[in-house]
Amino acid sequence: MADALKIGVAGLGTVGASLVRIIHDRQESLAVSCGRAIEITAVSARNRDKDRGLDLSGVTWFDDPVTMAKNADIDVLVELIGGAEGAARAAVEAALERGLHVVTANKALLAESGVELAAAAEEKGLLLNFEAAVAGGIPVIKAMRESLTGNTISRVYGIMNGTCNYILTRMEKEGLSFEDCLKEAQRLGYAEADPTFDIEGNDTAHKLAIMTALAFGCEISCDDIYLEGISNITQEDIRAASELGYRIKLLGVAQRTEGGIEQRVHPTMVPHDTVIAQVDGVTNAVAIESDILGDLLMVGPGAGGDATASAVLGDVADIAKSRPGTQTVAALGRPAKSLEPYRRARMRSHEGGYFIRLRVADRIGVIAAIARRMADNQISLESIVQHSTNGSDEAPTKTIIMVTHATTELSVRNAVSSMESDGYIVGKPQVIRIEKP
Ligand code: HSE
Repeated sequence: MADALKIGVAGLGTVGASLVRIIHDRQESLAVSCGRAIEITAVSARNRDKDRGLDLSGVTWFDDPVTMAKNADIDVLVELIGGAEGAARAAVEAALERGLHVVTANKALLAESGVELAAAAEEKGLLLNFEAAVAGGIPVIKAMRESLTGNTISRVYGIMNGTCNYILTRMEKEGLSFEDCLKEAQRLGYAEADPTFDIEGNDTAHKLAIMTALAFGCEISCDDIYLEGISNITQEDIRAASELGYRIKLLGVAQRTEGGIEQRVHPTMVPHDTVIAQVDGVTNAVAIESDILGDLLMVGPGAGGDATASAVLGDVADIAKSRPGTQTVAALGRPAKSLEPYRRARMRSHEGGYFIRLRVADRIGVIAAIARRMADNQISLESIVQHSTNGSDEAPTKTIIMVTHATTELSVRNAVSSMESDGYIVGKPQVIRIEKP
């Protein structure tokens, strides 16, 4: 049997601790399937005294991950620290510089610096694997960079944040408040250290940026993503969506259009009878539409220690099975130098159906004015419903819920802003895009 593959794990949080435990418990079966043992020889974390319930006997401890990357007796750096800059980035750069393979779950780092890091790895014939960075345990990176080679991909989209899907599911099924659901997601270890990254869509955006590059063979462009989170989704929206035959999901979507590549992350209404609408809780789903294969939908655990560690372990196993000098898998599916520049499609040109919820003054002519604004902007309505709301006797209000046929983002923005300037809107209008699989 070949020599053991020695790995150094930087970061012993939820995922790092799971990984150490799994490798320890499954040493024999891993050695059989990889043709060599996988051995953790070094670890690094902030707090050495914390009891993680791990057996770290014989493992060299480093307080500093960069020192570990530079000096430890390892073949692979597994980076599970997180963050686009700081120790994570420095450790990964040091590892590549030294000639070590790298496995990382760090979506922020890849979204910001993935092209540079891929180029550095390729230059030295090293593997840079990051399956766990997108959709947790679902093997979406491997599918896109290896299995779908030769396909032209037209759209990728999915539920890529377990925390948001968990919150939206519990809000819908149990009528719980947003805050209570978020607390529970944090307790269960799904949420990021700063949960605003989850709920405001940044985490999904990082994952989407990586998928976009793999799908379209372009450079990663995280700053060109249209971003809206779920913090303004209310029980009223969830109920209205349900009455109309939709469920609300935070989707990340990247698609080719005539104007370029559209990347967007926002709460989205998906038809109730589609598979993606049925994906509940922390589960993630990624759909890939391509010309040879057709439509692929992968559903699975998207967050949590073991699910994410499973993807990290798969990446480590790929390295264990590879042989020096035969590293041919380009990190981003094609050599970093041949990635095309990212050509951004403007969000205002986005085409699709829209859900619009307005609270309006209950007075003569309001519906007629709304209809006129929609017609002025060439928007055709699929449905319009009026509900009672709790306005005061002096200032009675009604809720108007509209679903449009396919139109453009610009038309909807213009129509809503004209209605706001008309003076009959109370509070902030809610606009949710509809996505049809
Ligand atoms: N906070 C992330 C989520 C973890 O909720 O999906 C996985 O990236």
